[in-house]
Amino acid sequence: MDTAATTQEQCVLVTGGAGFIGSHTVVELLKDGYSVVIVDDLSNASEKVLDRIDTIVGEEAAKNLSFYRADVCDKEALAYIFDNNTITSVIHFAGYKAVGESVAKPIEYYTNNLASTLTLVDVMREHGCKSIIFSSSATVYGDPDVLPLTEASPKKNATNPYGWTKWMIEQILTDLHSSDPEWNVVLLRYFNPIGAHPSGLMGEDPKGIPNNLVPYVAQVAVGKRDAIHVYGNDYDTHDGTGVRDYIHVCDLASGHAAALKWMDGRSGVEIFNLGTGKGSSVLDVITSFSAACGKELPYVMEPRRAGDVTANYANCIKAKELMGWEAQFNLDDMCRDSWNWQSNNPNGYEG
Ligand code: UD1
Repeated sequence: MDTAATTQEQCVLVTGGAGFIGSHTVVELLKDGYSVVIVDDLSNASEKVLDRIDTIVGEEAAKNLSFYRADVCDKEALAYIFDNNTITSVIHFAGYKAVGESVAKPIEYYTNNLASTLTLVDVMREHGCKSIIFSSSATVYGDPDVLPLTEASPKKNATNPYGWTKWMIEQILTDLHSSDPEWNVVLLRYFNPIGAHPSGLMGEDPKGIPNNLVPYVAQVAVGKRDAIHVYGNDYDTHDGTGVRDYIHVCDLASGHAAALKWMDGRSGVEIFNLGTGKGSSVLDVITSFSAACGKELPYVMEPRRAGDVTANYANCIKAKELMGWEAQFNLDDMCRDSWNWQSNNPNGYEG
């Protein structure tokens, strides 16, 4: 007997749904026919993204979206959301995510990221909802011995509190399943999400000076910053600069939709890498972005950044074999869409 429900019968709670990856995933889910409830405290996101989502998905699908401004640590607020919506599964993105800040503010990072997750699963349990996808990170692999990374590669020590929260939340959700095998847990380990929605209506909007490479490159391209700082050119890679597996945020979003379909009617704990399987260096990114924006972008070489690994990229065969998902976009597509977003919205959502 097929116990899987149609997407129209399912309502997905998306924590952090107004953020970069969350908003792109919400678009994907609405297009697939799900009802979606976003809970986001807007501490690192703009309410304007909600109108952009509506524009992209159109009036009909937009009727299936609701938004609650609340902190996921707020148990009463979460219980209210579950009391007033028949949530069938949860995708949990909400959390603090700045690596450097996490080193300076470990208490805030551990408190926020762990307490919100514990509150969420507690309320889920009380409402009989036991299906969760968690936004994890390739950071749990630490400095890898063997590439590409498979889901069976060992978890290693994280290099910062942000990474540890991902590491620990994976463990918490795994323990939860051990305690009650009805839980249905999918841990998605993202590699480096970049790009933006091809419409140019949604993209990454970091506050202050970007920590991550591509948002920084995009701000140099649009004239907000002078030059890219390349952290290290003495790594053992094809051109000496660090290598990462960059993945288009829309591919990441479709990976969540694929996971939701795949997990429907199951229980267990399953881990999937979401990447492209291809490693690109910092200089590869600069070359591709320069082509996208039509000018040579200036860069300066700097010493290595503490905590950075030489290279990491994914083996994504498991996601393809089990969920039928694989990334569609290449680095040039990602840079083209990042540039389209940045040039149309030089000041992000506030522009
Ligand atoms: C970082 C986090 C990772 C997190 C991810 C989210 C660390 C150690 N890791 O990954 O935990 O999940 O962001 O997207 O911070 N680079 C430059 N100049 C810059 C910025 C970066 O040369 O201004 C280089 C880095 O040295 C690295 C590459 O670009 O080789 C990518 O860096 P970044 O975009 O910050 O991502 P990660 O460090 O891979």
